[in-house]
Amino acid sequence: MLILGIETSCDETSAALVADGKQVLSNVIANQLDLLSKYGGVVPEIAARRHTELIGYVIKEAIESAGKSLADIEAVAVTARQGLVGCLLVGAAAAKTLSYSLGIPLIGIHHIEGHIFANLLANPRLTVPHVCLTVSGGHTMLVYVRDYCQYELLGSTLDDAAGEAFDKIAKFLGLGFPGGPVIDKLAREGNRRAFKFPRPLSTSRTLDFSFSGLKTSVINTFKHQVAGNEALPLEDIAASFQEAIVDVLVSKTVEAAARTEVSVVSVTGGVSANSRLREAFVDAGRETGLTVYFPEFSLCTDNAAMIAAAGQARYERGDAADLNLNVVPYAPLEV
Ligand code: KG4
Ligand code: ZN
Repeated sequence: MLILGIETSCDETSAALVADGKQVLSNVIANQLDLLSKYGGVVPEIAARRHTELIGYVIKEAIESAGKSLADIEAVAVTARQGLVGCLLVGAAAAKTLSYSLGIPLIGIHHIEGHIFANLLANPRLTVPHVCLTVSGGHTMLVYVRDYCQYELLGSTLDDAAGEAFDKIAKFLGLGFPGGPVIDKLAREGNRRAFKFPRPLSTSRTLDFSFSGLKTSVINTFKHQVAGNEALPLEDIAASFQEAIVDVLVSKTVEAAARTEVSVVSVTGGVSANSRLREAFVDAGRETGLTVYFPEFSLCTDNAAMIAAAGQARYERGDAADLNLNVVPYAPLEV
């Protein structure tokens, strides 16, 4: 089955063609980096307007670069839950229009389910059940993937998402937006043990996360260094801050796997592109015997191929939507 996926939940306008939930024929992603650097982050209404400008071209490009035509598309899957409401509406309106005019099924997907499917799409050997750490600019969650499309939330952030912490610290340090890739690069030159930043909630039994105290600690350390005319090694601050986030993400994921008695974990979302996080998970896998999967880089951040893959699984379970499909900014995953 050939599914067109559409993703517009935040600042990426994306459309993809995926065959049988397995083969990515195209995955076009238009980001809004020019707007993000101008405003220092995502401005919801401006992002929605940019989606409106781009969505038609992005869909056209996804179809043409796959060597297909509109008539070949057999269903359309769109991110309908979790995201910026104005942004979600643009994708939903485009998907409904195509569904009605082509007479093909419409499938509404939860954005987080899309991220979980990024790994199932990228790694055919990834099995269920497993634990998925999904970590990006909008969320940080540990999910028990009991079966395809069956989830149990084990823990999530109580305040900032990990990617949000990367973005806010980079902005504070004047490094630009998005912060994750810049800090990742800078940290490679730094000493990750130079500053001892807190690992929030790491000693408690909870599988929830908290990153706002860490953020405050980094900001206070920076101000203290400035006030005392002390050296300000940005590489060391970046490496030590990143290490604190990586430590917490890895240790809680290992704990979640132990509690659910699984030997396989997957890591997904924008922060899963982080090179130190990948390295630390590989080490943890070696020490604990866990098998760890990551998607390739193009499937880490928001993209429509993961939405099309989730759409295939949902469609096979009879989960097609009607033309009254609505968008929901905050929605539980476990439905
Ligand atoms: O999944 P995504 O594209 O969008 C959301 O759903 O939020 O993730 C974007 C987030 C941003 O916060 C960005 O800073 C972070 O992922 N990110 C990274 C890296 N690449 C992107 N964080 C750490 N290291 C990276 N290499
Ligand atoms: Zn995302």
